[in-house]
This record gives sequence, C-alpha cells and structure tokens, in this order.
Amino acid sequence: MKKTVIAVIGCGRIANNAHFPAFAKMENLRVKYACDVIKEKAEAAKEKFDFVEQVITDYKVALEDSEVEAVYVLTPNYAHYTVTMDALRAGKHVFCEKPITVNYELSCEMAEEAKKQNKMLNIGVCNRYHKSVEMLEEMNREGKFGKLYHVYCSFRSFRSIPGLGGAFTTKAQSGGGVLIDWGVHFLDLILYIMGGAKLESVTCDAYSEMAKNMKDYKYTSMWAEDTADIENGTNDVDDFITGHIRTDKASISFNGAWAQNIKHDDMFIDFMGDKGGARLIYGKKFEFCDGSTLDLTTPDYEIPGMYLREDRAFIEAINSGIKDRNNIENILESAKLLDYLYKSADAKKEIRF
Ligand SMILES: NC(=O)c1ccc[n+]([C@@H]2O[C@H](COP(=O)([O-])OP(=O)(O)OC[C@H]3O[C@@H](n4cnc5c(N)ncnc54)[C@H](O)[C@@H]3O)[C@@H](O)[C@H]2O)c1
Repeated sequence: MKKTVIAVIGCGRIANNAHFPAFAKMENLRVKYACDVIKEKAEAAKEKFDFVEQVITDYKVALEDSEVEAVYVLTPNYAHYTVTMDALRAGKHVFCEKPITVNYELSCEMAEEAKKQNKMLNIGVCNRYHKSVEMLEEMNREGKFGKLYHVYCSFRSFRSIPGLGGAFTTKAQSGGGVLIDWGVHFLDLILYIMGGAKLESVTCDAYSEMAKNMKDYKYTSMWAEDTADIENGTNDVDDFITGHIRTDKASISFNGAWAQNIKHDDMFIDFMGDKGGARLIYGKKFEFCDGSTLDLTTPDYEIPGMYLREDRAFIEAINSGIKDRNNIENILESAKLLDYLYKSADAKKEIRF
C-alpha cells in the first residue's frame, strides 16, 4: 500500500486531541516529522504517538525534504498564512486548520497559490464530515424540509474565553473572537447544508463586554490557559456576536458567546422549513419534526469520528487528484461571510454583497 509521507506543524491541542489520534488509525500514511517551535511539545507528541519518526523545531526542514508530500498546519491562526504559503511554494499539499486565516483577502491568496502550484489545500472545517451534518444536507436536497426559510443558530457558552490575553484574544493574531473561532464552524456547516446559497446582505453587532478589565473576568477553568496572559496581554476581540444574513435561499440569524452572564451552554442549530424542521445539537445528533404528521423523530445512527473522516478524505484527495468538500475553494464563501459580518459590526450598518 502506498503510504503518503506527511509532516505535522504545530503540536498543540488540535494535533494531540484530533489529528494524531486519527493518524494512528490510518494505514496509508507515515508521519515523518512532528514540528513545534516549542521543542518539548513536539517531543511529547513523539512520545505519545510512537509512529512519529522525527522531531524538529523549524518547519522548513520538512519543506526541504523531498520525501514529504503533505503538511498539516496546526498552528495558531496568525501562522496559517505564512506556513501554508511556504509549504505550497515548496510543492507540498496542505491541510490547514480552521479558520483559513485572519481575513478573506489572505484566504483568497492562499486559494490562488494552491491553484498555481496545482496542490490540494484543505481546511479543517471538520463538521462537514460529521454524520449528522451529512444527513441534514441530504435531507435538504431531498426536500424533507420543503421550503427552508430560516436557520437560527446559537453558539453560546457560560464561561469559555480561551487563552485570555494570548493569541486567541488578540485580533491581529486571531482575526477575531467567538465569531471566527466558533462561528466559523456553525456558519460554514449551515452554508454547506443549504447547498450553494448566494449571499445577499449581512448585519452584525459585536461586543467585548465580559473581560473589559481582564483581571475581573470570573471563570473556573479556561481552555488554552497555557497561552493566556491576563496580566499584560490584549483582549480586543468579540466575546458576544449577533447577526442576520440574507441569502437567495433561507435567511440566517445567530447569537454567539464565548462568555455571558447566563448560566447555560446553548449550542444548536434550528432548520425551519414549511414541511419539516430539525434541531441539530451541535456535535451530536438531531431531531426532525415532520409537519405533515406532527411526529418528532430522533434518528439513531453511528457517529464515526469526523476528524478521522476529514483526514482520510484529504489523503484520498491527494492520491486521486479529486478535490473533496473541505478543499479551500469550497470554503471561501464562508470566509467571505465572516469578513462581511465583521465589516458590518465595525460600520454598524447592513452590508450588501
Ligand atoms: N477544527 C477544530 O475543531 C479546531 C479545534 C481547536 C483548534 N482548532 C484550530 O487549530 C489551530 C491550533 O489551535 P490549538 O488549540 O491546537 O492551539 P495550540 O496553541 O494548542 O497549538 C498550536 C501549536 O503551534 C505551535 N506553533 C506556533 N507557531 C509555529 C510555527 N511557526 N512552527 C511550528 N509550530 C508552531 C505552538 O507552539 C503550539 O504548540 C487554531 O487555528 C485553531 O483555530 C481547530
């Protein structure tokens, strides 16, 4: 069996929790390098995942290795663009985590470079490989919702600002807050399920209220705490976002919160059609209400690992030369949407596409 040789750049949370465990189940690849600027992190990955062959701290070593066919860019958002562009120019296929990068303009440059180099560039919008999302996409295509007229989503959590003061909350490094970090998944999967909706206009309001004074922010635990700098860092991104999107198909409205003074986590998407409607409990299963019978069904099915499925699809795309659903060309529309939402929030007015 042909084994695709890859290098992993960035050995943090998403590498350790999602991609390395997926690689452990894939027979058709070799992980030649684990790379991290913090050597101990790359070493820890090699220790935990014994199929990793070598540890490096400079990703250019992997780019210069002709045996390496593809790289995984699993760094914070600010490094996505540079590392991906370097890798494409070195003739490598690239899997880059979401969001594509910090804005739409640079995302387009990345897509252009992939085209120029004739290389695959996939983005880690993993929900497109979630079984529930696939089923809802199929149901919409089959007309089970009838006329899908509105989609509402909530990605709100009680206390979840990540790495306060670090890269997640510094706009120049992350591109934004809860919208680009969580909203990217929700809005991308909505566009995916709706299937080719043409964006018409957006209106959006963004707030940064919960950690205006970082030292006063109350929390019991903080994800990405290792990157936090509450004493001296920056927090200039949205921790609450709300907006309305018009398309030539359904309209979409949303609320997202990294933190709020409402002690609930509400993570769901409602698809409202005149014949049927569905509530997707994010990351889990969905319930469907058939308007003609008033029946509520909760389909029972296996949920295979979405990270494993998206990683398998990437390697398959490289080997077949056929772009899959996570190819950057299929994700640019949702990157454009995020940009326009932030533009609307800055301008405090509706923006038309
Ligand atoms: N698909 C998802 O569901 C999902 C979930 C979590 C995170 N992410 C995305 O994954 C990316 C990484 O997030 P994370 O939580 O793993 O962050 P992290 O901080 O835990 O890990 C990032 C690692 O990259 C390393 N790094 C930074 N610059 C580097 C460089 N130039 N060369 C080599 N290593 C470098 C850092 O030292 C760090 O160890 C982010 O873009 C995030 O948005 C996606």
